[in-house]
Amino acid sequence: MSIQGTKTKALYQQATSTIPFGVSSNFRYWGPDDTMVMTKAQGPHMWDADGKQYIDYRLGFGPVILGHAHPEVNRRVTEAIQEGTIFAWMTPLEIDICERIARMTGMDMVRLTNTGTEATMHSLRIARAHTNREKFIKYEGAYHGMCDYYLYSTASSRANALGSRRSPIPQQNSSGIPKGISQYVYTLPFNDEERLEELIEQSWHDVAALIIEPTMGNMAGIAPQPGYLEKVRELTAKYGIVLIFDEVKTGFRLANGGAQEVFGIRADMATYAKSLGNGYPIAAIAGSRDVMMTLEPGAVSHGGTYVGNVVGTAAAQAVLEILETQPILKEIAQRGKQLMDGIDEILTEADIPHCMTGLPAMFGYILGIEEPPADFRAYARGDAAMYEKIAMQLIHRGVMPDADGREPWFMCHAHDDKIISQTLEVFKEAVYAARN
Ligand SMILES: Cc1ncc(COP(=O)(O)O)c(C=O)c1O
Repeated sequence: MSIQGTKTKALYQQATSTIPFGVSSNFRYWGPDDTMVMTKAQGPHMWDADGKQYIDYRLGFGPVILGHAHPEVNRRVTEAIQEGTIFAWMTPLEIDICERIARMTGMDMVRLTNTGTEATMHSLRIARAHTNREKFIKYEGAYHGMCDYYLYSTASSRANALGSRRSPIPQQNSSGIPKGISQYVYTLPFNDEERLEELIEQSWHDVAALIIEPTMGNMAGIAPQPGYLEKVRELTAKYGIVLIFDEVKTGFRLANGGAQEVFGIRADMATYAKSLGNGYPIAAIAGSRDVMMTLEPGAVSHGGTYVGNVVGTAAAQAVLEILETQPILKEIAQRGKQLMDGIDEILTEADIPHCMTGLPAMFGYILGIEEPPADFRAYARGDAAMYEKIAMQLIHRGVMPDADGREPWFMCHAHDDKIISQTLEVFKEAVYAARN
C-alpha cells in the first residue's frame, strides 16, 4: 500500500515531468508510489502534502538537532539577512562561528563550506597538498558525499562484490566516474586492525589521507571497537598520513566536540556540516594549524561564492550558542537511550532476533543478527527486507524513520518524553503488523 495520499501523489506526478524521477536528490527517491512531498515541519513533526503528520526521525538526513523550524535559529537568520546576505568579504559572523567551532572541537583553525560534500572534497585536496601524496584510504560502507573520489564501496555497494578482506576491491558506486579515479582509492573493512596495519605498512608512501566516519553514520551507526580509532591514530601519525574525521553526521550531535570528544582522539582534520546549521546550509573544515595553513592563496585552492554566507553563518551562530550554553546534546543522548531501550525491549518481546547499533543520538538496529556487526560485510547479512517492512508500517502510522536501515534514527531536542512514548506505542503496533 502506497504511503502517498492523493495530493502527495498528484504533486509527485507533477514533479516527474520536469525533474528526473521527480526528485532533486536520488536519496529521496523511494519509487513511484512511496516518494513523498512534504509541506511543513516544526519541532519533532513533519507534515506531507495531504496534511498527514509524522514524528520525524530522518530529520533531513540528520541536520535538525534542535527541532524543525527552531524559533531562535529562524529569528537570528531573519534578523541577519535584513543587512544583506553576501559580500565576497569576511563578516564578523564568520569569524565568530569559526572561533566557536575551534573552541568546541578543540581544532586550531577552520574554513567554511556550504555542504558536507564540499568539506570532504576540499579536505582531501588539503591533505594531498600537505603530504605531496595522491592516494587515500576510505572504509567500506562509509559515505563521504557526492565527490567522484568518495563514491567507492559505500553502503550502496553489493557486499559480495568487495572481494577478499585481505585485498578489498573498491566498488565504483556510480556510472559517470572516470575509471582512472579508482587508482587513488584504497578501501578497508571497518574495525579490522590487521588489515589496516598491513595496508599502511605496505603503501604509506602513496597515501595522503585516511578518511573515516568515526561511527558509521551511513551504516546504522556502527561504532568503532575499543582501540580501533587509537590504532588508526597511531598508524596515521607514524606514517605522516593526514587523518580526516568525517564528522558531517557526528559533529555537534554526539557531543559539542563531536566524535573526537566522545572517543578521545584528535584528528588532523575534521569535517562538519548537518547539525552545525540545524537545517540551514553550512559546513566547515577544521584542522591543526600545520595542516590548515597549507591553504596558501595562490598555492592550494579552496573557495566558493557562497562560503561564509549570512544565512548559514547566522544559523550556525545561533545553534552553537545554544549548544554551548545548554545541555542539549546530553539531554538528546538520554532520550535517545530511552528510545533505543524501548525498541530493543519490543523486538525482544516479539522474539525478533536483532542487535542495537550506534550511539543514542544517532542509532540503528539490525534484524536477523544478534551481534552488532563490526563492518559493512557483516552488516549486509542482516534482514533488510524485514527492517523495511517495519519502517513502512511505522510510516503508515505517522512515525518516520528511513525505510533503509543503513540510515540511522536521528534524535533532536524536540523529541521529548511524550514523543518517545508515542513512538514506542506505534513501534509495537508496527512490529506486530509487519510480522503478521
Ligand atoms: C558522513 C557524511 N559525509 C559527507 C556527507 C555529504 O554531505 P552533504 O550531503 O551535505 O553534501 C554526508 C551526507 O549524508 C555524510 O553522511
